[in-house]
Amino acid sequence: MELYVDTANIGHIRHAASLGFISGVTTNPSLLAKEDPSVDVKQRILEIHELVGGHLSVEVISTDTKGMLNEAEEIISWFPQATIKIPMIPDGLAATKELSRQNIPTNVTLVFSTTQALAANNAGASYVSFFMGRLDDIASGSAQVLEEACEIWDIHGFESLIIAASIRHPAHVVDSALAGADIATVPYKVLMQCLKHPLTDAGLQAFLDDYNKMQAEKKKLNG
Ligand code: G3P
Repeated sequence: MELYVDTANIGHIRHAASLGFISGVTTNPSLLAKEDPSVDVKQRILEIHELVGGHLSVEVISTDTKGMLNEAEEIISWFPQATIKIPMIPDGLAATKELSRQNIPTNVTLVFSTTQALAANNAGASYVSFFMGRLDDIASGSAQVLEEACEIWDIHGFESLIIAASIRHPAHVVDSALAGADIATVPYKVLMQCLKHPLTDAGLQAFLDDYNKMQAEKKKLNG
């Protein structure tokens, strides 16, 4: 399962990208607004693109098909490798269909059910983004819905890739991998939590202490 970072924070993206285990970035209007409300969206997106180079999903804010297509055209003019993030609404499906006809990659977002996912796939989505945390917020087991979708994808051999999004903690990352999601897009803080283990820190400290002890003994022996 590939890991993307779900943020618009340049410092976090720079650090995550430097560690070598991230292959893409997803953003949305809320993530962009959280960083700096006065940010120039085009400039920020291009900065992110330069930093990561891999997958970058950029979300449209129009809610009608024509508006979404116009925005997609503009985003593609910034950098042609962009994946256009489209909300899972009827007009979004029509926009997805048209973009797929033009071979422009799309990421259908705000997907909460397998029937929505099916519709997005059939409209030609390249990626389908399942929101885990927000499903759990309303006491609907996200892991079960994601497992169900992944099973349907396997049965039918669908080509669109499933992204587990709205990840809130490392257990969501494990759930996504177990369900068979192709990608999990993970907030920076959760990515860093995934790397930490107290036994790693304690083990490293013990190795360093033992090495230093050995060096001190050697020094003593050599006078
Ligand atoms: O990519 C969008 C999604 O990950 C949002 O997450 O935490 O706002 O539900 P959240």
